[in-house]
Order: sequence, then structure tokens, then C-alpha cells
Amino acid sequence: MLQRSHGINVRRECEREHHSKHTDGDRAQRIMTSMHERMPVSDLVSMPHDAATWTDLHWPLMYNNVTRQDLDALIEFLHHDIPRLTQAEQVEAFEREWSTWLGVKHSVFVNSGSSANLLTLAALREHTGPGEIIVPALTWVSDIAAVLHCGFTPVFVDSDPSTLGMDPEQVLAKVTSKTRAVFLTHVLGLNALTDELVGELTARGIPLIEDACESHGATFRGRKVGTFGLLSNFSFYFAHHMSTIEGGMICTDDPELYQTVRMMRSHGLVRESTSEELKRAYARRYADLHPDFIFAFPAYNVRSTELNAVIGRSQLRRLDANIAIRRRNFQLFLDHLDPDLFRTDFQIEGNSNYALILVLQRPDPVLRDRVAQALRGCGVEYRQGLSGGGNQLRQPYLRHRCPSVDRLNLPVVDHLHFYGFYLGNYPELPPDHILTLCRVLNGLGSTGICTRPMISSLPKKESVHVEHRSA
Ligand SMILES: Cc1ncc(COP(=O)(O)O)c(C=O)c1O
Repeated sequence: MLQRSHGINVRRECEREHHSKHTDGDRAQRIMTSMHERMPVSDLVSMPHDAATWTDLHWPLMYNNVTRQDLDALIEFLHHDIPRLTQAEQVEAFEREWSTWLGVKHSVFVNSGSSANLLTLAALREHTGPGEIIVPALTWVSDIAAVLHCGFTPVFVDSDPSTLGMDPEQVLAKVTSKTRAVFLTHVLGLNALTDELVGELTARGIPLIEDACESHGATFRGRKVGTFGLLSNFSFYFAHHMSTIEGGMICTDDPELYQTVRMMRSHGLVRESTSEELKRAYARRYADLHPDFIFAFPAYNVRSTELNAVIGRSQLRRLDANIAIRRRNFQLFLDHLDPDLFRTDFQIEGNSNYALILVLQRPDPVLRDRVAQALRGCGVEYRQGLSGGGNQLRQPYLRHRCPSVDRLNLPVVDHLHFYGFYLGNYPELPPDHILTLCRVLNGLGSTGICTRPMISSLPKKESVHVEHRSA
């Protein structure tokens, strides 16, 4: 009874805070600390766990990611006499502030993470010509779509079960004279880099491109991911660490690629370059063209607006505080999950997760369905298959483009595809919800259906079992 009233009070407090006008990272942190103090963890994990006791946790994938504070910043901006709304000073300021936060020389703000993927690959193609790009099978559709649209050939690699990123050994094994880049994804806030991978690619002169759309603020060896690659991409979609409603960023230290990406963002226009020397060179070479209308590339319009940049600047101020809360939430989740049923041994050094990762230890379809039912029963929104829904090679857009042998030779990705979930992890998520959910999930028990070993000890070349195909 005492435990229940604790829970209700905590929930009421959170609901009050959810509706408060001034919610921000600091406040969310204060609420969390006070809840930790009032509710002993042991009380929560020992509560009864049959379906009859499931309570609706009202737990969406993301909550309040564009806050009152951001909207107030936007309203203040709109109160200027004649505010300019199309890309201008606010976008430039956001790019500068983002570059400083990340630790890169240049950033280019675009209208989505997918546009960031596309421009990155388009710019690379201008510089390297056609060839192969090594990509993960577990990623977002736009990573692969960008590779295909830019005329590259994707070469797929299975995941490392402890980072969910590409298996570095397999990446290096697939590098050939045709390789133009390795385009890796840092999955759901886990770093996918290793010393060996970075060192070998540098030694062999293979460009690394980082998709950090799901991993703002994650670090490798204490340095932010997104600073290791020749180019890196971020997404500011609502469900990510920070949001500009829609938005994305391309980051690089390379001055030439920076100019190419800037031009490609706006129709390929040379006047979008910040290099006077480059503009003069084009004007001299194409003397029959007006300098305002020289299109260097067959490019796109993927600009964002001043409004999105104002929101981004406001968001950036609390990004670090929110990352710290999310990190704590994920640790709490891993600490209280039953490691016999669920994977809890991810490499979380330097992690930054906007989602809680839930992966079954064994390929057990009965437990998987029980988990899905329990999540729905507890009002927890989830996605199955992790990033991008799992194995991209199983998707219609790729099926006819690659032989089935490739599709079926990805045992780790397929395990994540069929037995992986992610749930929302936002700063205002009450820690007692995490503990309650762990109690429910642990109570689902082993079904005894599957006794195959954990995915980390599966032989690398094992093919997928028939049971998977109908899932
Ligand atoms: C790894 C990854 N790359 C790219 C994207 C595309 O970002 P956006 O939704 O902003 O287009 C996403 C989207 O979630 C993603 O998870």
C-alpha cells in the first residue's frame, strides 16, 4: 500500500511537471533526484508482477521534446519588426554554436537527418567518383537510400552485438580497392568506433563517415562521435536527443567538402559558398554566366528556416543536462533487467541514449510476444527491430537489389530484427516507471522454448532459422 501511494504521488508530481510552463533540463533533473530519494529501488523491484497488476505508465517514445521554453524563444523572435524567416543569421548562428558544441570546424544545417545523409553521399561522390560504400544492415533507410541515389554500391556488414554498430572486423575484411568510404551508424546512442577500426581506415586512406543521427553527445575515448569521420550527420527530428521539429546537420573539418555541401544544400549554387576564391574561379571559368546563377552541381534544395534554427539554439542550451539524465535512465534500466532474459552487457562507455534498448538474450518468439504484450499492457510505446526496424536487407526496397544469401547471412542483425525493441528515454521519464517496467519484464520469465546460446557467442556465419522468416 505504502509502495502504491509512493508510486501515485510520484506520477502526480510528474504529471504536474509535464504540464508546467517552465519544464527544462534542470527541473527534470531535480524531480528525478527527489524521486530517487523518496522511493527505495528495492521496494519497486519486489512489487507483484502478474498481468493483473500492470498499470498504464503513459510512456510514449518521446515527450515534450520541443518545450515551452523553445516556443517562447520562437515567439520572441517573431516579435521582431520584420523577422526574416528563410535561412539567414539564425541558421548561421546555430551552425556556429553546434560546431563549437561538437568540436568541428564546419556545420551545415539542413531540413532533416535524411537530407544530411543525402548531401554527404552526394558530396563524397563528387570527390571520389563511383565505387563501394561499406554500410551496416542495421541502420535507417535514408543511409542506404543515399548510397543508392548517389550511384554507389552498398556492401553490407553484420552488427557487433555489444555496440549494435558494424562488426569492425567484418568492415575491415570487406575493404577492397573499390571501397570509397565506410559509412557507419552509431546505433541508439552507443559508440560504434574502435581504435583498430579508426586506425586501420586511416592507414589505408579509406574515408570514414559517421551517422550520429541517433547519438548526439556519445563519445569514444572521451571525444564526441561525429568528430572522427571526414563527414558526420545528425538528425533533429522530434524523437531524437534534441529537436528542431525537423532538421539535420552535416559536420566536417574539410574546407573543400564544406563548400561543396553548402552549395549542394541550395540547388548547387556557387554563390552559397563562403570562399571568395572559389566564387572568383567559377566566375572566371564561366564568364558567360551571371555570378548569381552558376549551378556547380545537379543538386537539391534541403535548406531549413530561421524558425527551426531558433528552436535549435534554444535546445542546444540544455542538451548536455538532458544527455546526463538519459544516461542515468539507461543505466537504471540495465541495472534492473534480468540478464538471464535480456541483454544488459552493451558497451555503454560514452553512451548517450534517447531510447532504452531491450534485446532478448535468446531467439525466443514466445517471450518476444509476451514482451510486446506487456509493453502494450503497460502503455509503453515501443518499436520492434531497433534502428530503422532492423535488417534493411529484408525491406522491399532492397530485396530485389541483393541476393538472398546476403540477406540471410546476418545472424546478429537478424536477432536484433526479430528480438530487439526500443522504448522512449526522455528527461522527464520518472525513474519509478523504469523500475516498474523492469519488474514486469523480468516477471515474464523464460519460456523454455529456446535454449540456443546468446547472440554474442553465435558463430558469425550462422544462417537465419526458418522461424524468423514468418515473424
Ligand atoms: C541513424 C539514422 N540516420 C538518419 C536518420 C534520418 O533522420 P531524419 O528523420 O531527421 O530524416 C535517422 C532517423 O531517425 C536515423 O535514425
